[in-house]
Amino acid sequence: MEYEDGFRIVVADASYEKYVDEILATINDSAKKRGSGIATRTHEYLTSKMREKKAVIALTADDEFAGFCYIESWGHKEYVANSGLIVVEKYRKHQLAKRIKQMAFTLSRLRWPDAKLFGLTSQYAVMRINTELGYVPVTFNQLTDDDAFWAGCGTPEKPCCVNCDVLERTGRQYCVCTAMLYDPKDHVGEPLPIPAEEVEKIKEILTSPNPSEGGE
Ligand SMILES: CC(C)(COP(=O)(O)OP(=O)(O)OC[C@H]1O[C@@H](n2cnc3c(N)ncnc32)[C@H](O)[C@@H]1OP(=O)(O)O)[C@@H](O)C(=O)NCCC(=O)NCCS
Repeated sequence: MEYEDGFRIVVADASYEKYVDEILATINDSAKKRGSGIATRTHEYLTSKMREKKAVIALTADDEFAGFCYIESWGHKEYVANSGLIVVEKYRKHQLAKRIKQMAFTLSRLRWPDAKLFGLTSQYAVMRINTELGYVPVTFNQLTDDDAFWAGCGTPEKPCCVNCDVLERTGRQYCVCTAMLYDPKDHVGEPLPIPAEEVEKIKEILTSPNPSEGGE
């Protein structure tokens, strides 16, 4: 689908680091308002995601920050998760989360074609978008057992999410979030969710050096 509302959704490299403080403030502010848990991230972590070209950012026509998410691989690249999805409140309900997730999905499929994509969410909008992308709800035991992923939810001693006591009590079997999984084996030959010219742009970004690394 073509959108003509001026928003740009791009894979972020190091040249987008100037947005990191605003992204973090928006994530933290939203978590406070929702009163629900959201894993806490540091400035360095989000910066590294951009340098590694594992982040997607949405900007307005005036280059104002509008939305964000990043991807990370787990369990020796057998699994890939989208995390940190956020859309600035005033830009919500413009299908921005949908466009960001489509871009993150494409980025994940290009980088790790054999990996299973998964996510944890308590948001109806995200479940809806994931379903459109081909994710299905699964039980937690079908997700990665990589401790580093689950560390993002925290522990009762060091919580990152307000519900991490549930996760610990059930031995990672159940929690408040719904687990969703996209298994590439069930989608062989299916097209990517964004236009071919956008896919080419992502490939270009993936092979270009970050601005600070200099060019040829
Ligand atoms: C969840 C969030 C990312 C959605 O962003 P958004 O840009 O408004 O979502 P979209 O406009 O792309 O909506 C996608 C779909 O969900 C629906 N939707 C969006 N927000 C919704 C809501 N609050 N309640 C019900 N449906 C909703 C939309 O109508 C749309 O459905 P459609 O495809 O049938 O049109 C945004 O509300 C947000 O940043 N929330 C706080 C952070 C958060 O919860 N992150 C997710 C952590 S897993």
